[in-house]
Amino acid sequence: FKIFCGNANRPLAQEIVDYLGVPLGEAKIQRFGDGEICLAIDESVRGADIYVVQPTCYPTNDNIMELLIMIDAMRRASARRITAVMPYYGYARQERKSRARDPITAKLMANLITTAGADRVVTMDLHAPAIQGFFDIPLDHLPGVPILAEYFQEKGLDNLCVVSPDLGGVTRARNLAERIGASLAIIDKRRPEPNVSEIMNVIGELKGKTVIMIDDIIDTAGTITQGAYALVERGAKDVYACCTHPVLSGPAIERLQNSVIRELVVTNTIPIEKMIPQIKVLSVAPL
Ligand code: R5P
Repeated sequence: FKIFCGNANRPLAQEIVDYLGVPLGEAKIQRFGDGEICLAIDESVRGADIYVVQPTCYPTNDNIMELLIMIDAMRRASARRITAVMPYYGYARQERKSRARDPITAKLMANLITTAGADRVVTMDLHAPAIQGFFDIPLDHLPGVPILAEYFQEKGLDNLCVVSPDLGGVTRARNLAERIGASLAIIDKRRPEPNVSEIMNVIGELKGKTVIMIDDIIDTAGTITQGAYALVERGAKDVYACCTHPVLSGPAIERLQNSVIRELVVTNTIPIEKMIPQIKVLSVAPL
């Protein structure tokens, strides 16, 4: 087998090959003058089992195009099997029509990846697990919770409550709570428009508890920082937060710095542009 990567998360690809004790495949991805992608695969892939490590994170559209072009090139170069390793699956939050005339971009992505020639997909914590069914090729859906749970277990915190910042995340939060022996609480969140969240209510007992909020994605950090504040207002003693995919766009870093969150624990499915001491990064490379 051979492992290649695009430009989306080279440090993660390097960690994966170091972990496996193999070299990273030789490929150069550059840009033509007009911004089009210029790919050169500098070693034979004929008959090989190929893994392309490319989370489709920001800049999402460029990273998707790089992935598609790499898959296309591998297929035309007679690779035996091509696996798209996408620890973060961009556009996963557009997986259904919530208003009339909405696109279903997560499905469009699945069509494009399959048409390009992928035989298999490996991904983590899809925002909507049903996206697995958008593919007619095998898809491995890996959870980030065991990695996060191990970290919190080793920290030795007590009187813990795990909080889901919305109703959609309850299964994930319950999973973490069971692994670390914590109680469970749920925030009833409403999203009046994209990128704006409003806390309605909190279900569960928080008084004097150390809480750990868990989400799949932290994007602008509005959900998590407002949620954290609401928990402290309702008696939580200390607030930690964690997620698999640190998108951290726009005001996210500033919001985190000004928040009541003591520590944000994330994985490296997405590289973080601006690191701050409040953020702890755990690696998914061994997984
Ligand atoms: C949405 O339902 C997701 O699970 C996350 O809660 C959301 O994407 C976080 O977005 P933001 O950080 O911008 O509030």
